[in-house]
Amino acid sequence: MCGIVGAVAQRAVSGILLEGLRRLEYRGYDSAGLAVFEGEQIHRLRRAGKVENLTHAEQETPLKGHSGIAHTRWATHGKPTENNAHPHMSGDDLAIVHNGIIENFEPLKHQLQQDGFVFTSDTDTEVIAHLVARAVNQGKNLQEAFLETVSQLEGAFALGVLHKDYPDQILASRKGSPLVVGIGIGENFIASDQMALLQVTDRFIYLEEGDFVQVTPDEVMIWDANLEIVDRPVKKFEHSLSAADKGEFRHFMMKEIYEQPEVVKATLQGRISDKHLLEQAFGSEAASVFDQTQHVQIIACGTSFHAGLVAKYWLEDLAGIPCSIEVASEYRYRKHVIPANTLFVTISQSGETADTLAALRAVKDKVLASLTVCNVPGSSLVRESDLCLMTNAGPEIGVASTKAFTTQLVALLMLTVALARRHGLTEQQETDIVEALHKLPGLLLAAVKLDKEIEILSQDFAEKNHSLFLGRGPLYPVAMEGALKLKEISYIHAEAYAAGELKHGPLALVDKEMPVVAVAPNNALLDKLKANLQEVKARGGELFVFAGADHVKPEDGLKVEQMPDVPEILEPIVYTIPLQLLSYHVAVLKGTDVDQPRNLAKSVTVE
Ligand code: F6R
Repeated sequence: MCGIVGAVAQRAVSGILLEGLRRLEYRGYDSAGLAVFEGEQIHRLRRAGKVENLTHAEQETPLKGHSGIAHTRWATHGKPTENNAHPHMSGDDLAIVHNGIIENFEPLKHQLQQDGFVFTSDTDTEVIAHLVARAVNQGKNLQEAFLETVSQLEGAFALGVLHKDYPDQILASRKGSPLVVGIGIGENFIASDQMALLQVTDRFIYLEEGDFVQVTPDEVMIWDANLEIVDRPVKKFEHSLSAADKGEFRHFMMKEIYEQPEVVKATLQGRISDKHLLEQAFGSEAASVFDQTQHVQIIACGTSFHAGLVAKYWLEDLAGIPCSIEVASEYRYRKHVIPANTLFVTISQSGETADTLAALRAVKDKVLASLTVCNVPGSSLVRESDLCLMTNAGPEIGVASTKAFTTQLVALLMLTVALARRHGLTEQQETDIVEALHKLPGLLLAAVKLDKEIEILSQDFAEKNHSLFLGRGPLYPVAMEGALKLKEISYIHAEAYAAGELKHGPLALVDKEMPVVAVAPNNALLDKLKANLQEVKARGGELFVFAGADHVKPEDGLKVEQMPDVPEILEPIVYTIPLQLLSYHVAVLKGTDVDQPRNLAKSVTVE
């Protein structure tokens, strides 16, 4: 999704801006640009495609100015061309970068065209540049013009503005899209994500909804939505810089797959004792909320939605609490019946997913309490939810989510235990789960070590165009996640089915060109699943089965990858790993852009 970086300093800022954009590449984008004030004018460079193209352009015409704004664009209005890339300008005076979507841009554009403004792009953003310019032309100072403009905009946005008559400052504002201010010494910055600025600072101010900020090299002034000057706290960002480096790995995705034992340990740390869940981890108000909870509504998107589907099995099985789950993009736009005492749970890696955030805002006042399972401290979901349980996965850079998913499952299992305690879970059952959780990092490590074997397996897969993924019970959402991973990064068409559904339709697709992947741990449903596998085999389908030691025998047309023995409750977490590895190796064999698959963005901050 789009990214913003801005800098005002006593040194040249182009390098800082380009490095910032490079660090935002993981979010997904299709063009990039920057505008720097130098020699009494604003110089703009834009390129379609990668930040690398922009970097080459800047090397050919180096910019040495001390203030500038930059952007990576993920196309929403208009194609990913150079003309549509940000910054957008009004004449030569003013440049603007924008994340989000301006919903009322059409009437505004019409008005501006009638006033004689000429548009050079198809974007909604250009409207903002001309609105500010028009207000300045009418005699307002830049601040007044910017505020007047912001008040006319409907939709979600984070904005940065550079004006040639105010060369030492950037104005910025946020509503619905994240924006941080980076604090330096004699230099200050803005960015849509602190990751962009970790090379220059680790001190950040997280702007609140409606905030407006004026950033100069020596000062940061913030006004809230009521235009009162406010003092927002400066927070030190704790993650290490190495999180943004690939280290020995060829791709971030592989690094993140390998990190899972460690980040799962970090997610459990301080939250379980030898035998018990430490409920305080959910916050001081959690106990009273859990006491009253009679229904759980989970809302999420994509991979996070799959984590929620697993949690539904756990919550209904262990806690006996009814749990509904829905994708945020549907939930937010329909009328819903919210049962009494509903705990509203959002799940999100980024904490900024527009649909999930909108769903939370729509029902916040109608539910018992909201709780987010989230990976980014200080993100909008964390700030706007009553309770949160952080997944301590560290920054996830690969667009395809891996370690966020397994840590979400861990957090959701802890939530299940907290609720189930109040609904008949015995102390012994809790201890069994907690003891299993202590073993989880080791089991994940054993699963990650299957890497080489799965790499070999993937060779039989890479030439295929379609595939089916099967699972039963809580392994069905794991199959869904496996299918999503494969299609995201290898572009092979993959569908997941609850194995029992096979004969109700998808079996018609099975032939030797349709590989079928099954997750088949040794649990009560294994015999049922084996019967489903025979249905595939009888139709000449080629099977790839991930199964507990010696429980499924390899035979002609049926390849078996032996998994470590896993306590049943942990199966969805551990069996995710081989599916991630399979997708990764297939994608590498196919030569796709593993970390930044086509058309996708890391953080979907527009609907
Ligand atoms: C898939 C993936 C996406 C995200 C989805 C929600 O690999 O990463 O499906 O899971 O866009 O994002 P978050 O979890 O940030 O709300």
